[in-house]
Amino acid sequence: MAVFFVLAVCALVSVALVSYVHYASRQRRKGQAGYGHEQEVLKLPPGSMGWPYLGETLQLYSQDPNVFFASKQKRYGEIFKTHILGCPCVMLASPEAARFVLVKQANLFKPTYPRSKERMIGPSALFFHQGDYHLRIRKLVQGALGPDAMRALLPDVEAAVQSTLASWDGRVTSTFHAMKKLSFDVGIVTIFGGHLDERRKAELRMNYSIVEKGYNSFPNSLPGTLYYKAIQARRRLHGVLCEIMQERRARCEPGTDLLGCLMQAQGDDGAPLLTDEQVADNIIGVLFAAQDTTASVLTWIVKYLHDQPKLLEAVRAEHAAIRETNDGGRLPLTWAQTRSMVLTHRVILESLRMASIISFTFREAVADVEYKGFLIPKGWKVMPLFRNIHHNPDYFPDPQKFDPSRFKVAPRPNTFMPFGNGVHACPGNELAKLEMLVLIHHLVTGYRWEVVGSSDEVEYSPFPVPKHGLPVKLWREKNTMNFKSCETGNVEDIIV
Ligand code: HEM
Ligand SMILES: *[C@@H]1O[C@H](CO)[C@@H](O)[C@H](O)[C@H]1NC(C)=O
Repeated sequence: MAVFFVLAVCALVSVALVSYVHYASRQRRKGQAGYGHEQEVLKLPPGSMGWPYLGETLQLYSQDPNVFFASKQKRYGEIFKTHILGCPCVMLASPEAARFVLVKQANLFKPTYPRSKERMIGPSALFFHQGDYHLRIRKLVQGALGPDAMRALLPDVEAAVQSTLASWDGRVTSTFHAMKKLSFDVGIVTIFGGHLDERRKAELRMNYSIVEKGYNSFPNSLPGTLYYKAIQARRRLHGVLCEIMQERRARCEPGTDLLGCLMQAQGDDGAPLLTDEQVADNIIGVLFAAQDTTASVLTWIVKYLHDQPKLLEAVRAEHAAIRETNDGGRLPLTWAQTRSMVLTHRVILESLRMASIISFTFREAVADVEYKGFLIPKGWKVMPLFRNIHHNPDYFPDPQKFDPSRFKVAPRPNTFMPFGNGVHACPGNELAKLEMLVLIHHLVTGYRWEVVGSSDEVEYSPFPVPKHGLPVKLWREKNTMNFKSCETGNVEDIIV
């Protein structure tokens, strides 16, 4: 999640002032004869802080971020300091260090996001919080995204996948664009159940897309700017959500979907646990966390399968067998079938590793913390570098090779964290994987596709995706008949 915020983290704060304050406090700490009960001088991790004020921001942006992190790691090892966008930070490139921050000492490191982003998503959304409030909401969200919920959701996921593919049939479309619509639709059924009327859905979709456009823009509240428009659209989203909640209450049908779970939650005294405002913030937060992440990984999967015809044939064989059992695709996929897709599951894990779309996350030290004899000063950011760990040959030999068979053996503990780790790990991971399994099933059994143009460059959206979102021409395979042909949704495709 936090990677959404990386480009803007601290961009707002007065860079010069903050740098100076941190610089001064660092000097002070250096001068201290020890801290707490330990009477030894802890040193800061190795690394360079770059130029005054600017830190190493320019270096980070003038080169591929992966190269920046990797060369630092090579030079300084698993933990090193740097200074980007006005924030001193410690980067952590080892499984142990990531575990220390995200799991073992998670209470010493709080989530950290710029105010402007918090305001856009909603300050009560769970990922901004730590402690009791976070835990309570997290339990509710996990409940609504748990195994039973996933089983019940399968038919809706399958319908959404089929509709996405049907509206793509015979056209060239940006894969990322199509996948965004898919993950949005799945997010909507997860949150509202299958019964949200089309008008409401369209209102949510349109307003949400305005929020998104403003999200990564400079937070300038003057009328006319993207940020301003996004804040306005966010207000309308909130209004729509409150209307939906009021209607549910009037009908005395809160529902068993995520919205229902949040609305019905009660505190120990039996009173509602959350205000409508808090529910709305969390709903918008989940939509946000669910969409671009899942869509980026789905896009990479389409590319990886396309680029490896032999692998694609093997995956196709796995799914052809299932389709056969399902009377040539006339019967819906069963939950048990989704659990039986062994090769496909490995392809998904390897795609998550290769793409590592959440390259790192952010936390902030709430106190001076010692790690392996180094000081992580209070107020500094820490960044567990997931991608570096996923691409370290010590844990994943020949890391640039796409090789699903490496997942025949479980990865070493804490070396594979596509969904994070610890108290803030992704509660949507099963849903994301279900979408991937179902998409792959219908894609490889019903369709053929080819990539249009070169797809080897990467762009950041803000997650890495292939250039132009991977334009793909897709067509229905002649000799398989798709009996469950379904409504063609109105995709506003990018026709290339
Ligand atoms: C492939 C798709 C996805 C990936 C790679 C992914 C990855 C992640 C990661 C790495 C985190 C932890 C961030 C951190 O520790 O700072 C996270 C958190 C979160 N994700 Fe996902 N996610 C995906 C899909 C989803 C979906 C589909 C949903 C919801 C339906 C979702 C909801 C959330 C929420 C609510 C959090 C915050 C949890 C907390 O703070 O306790 N994610 N995700
Ligand atoms: C946003 O939501 C409002 C309802 O509050 C609705 O009237 C409007 O059509 C929606 N769409 C856009 C693009 O603003």
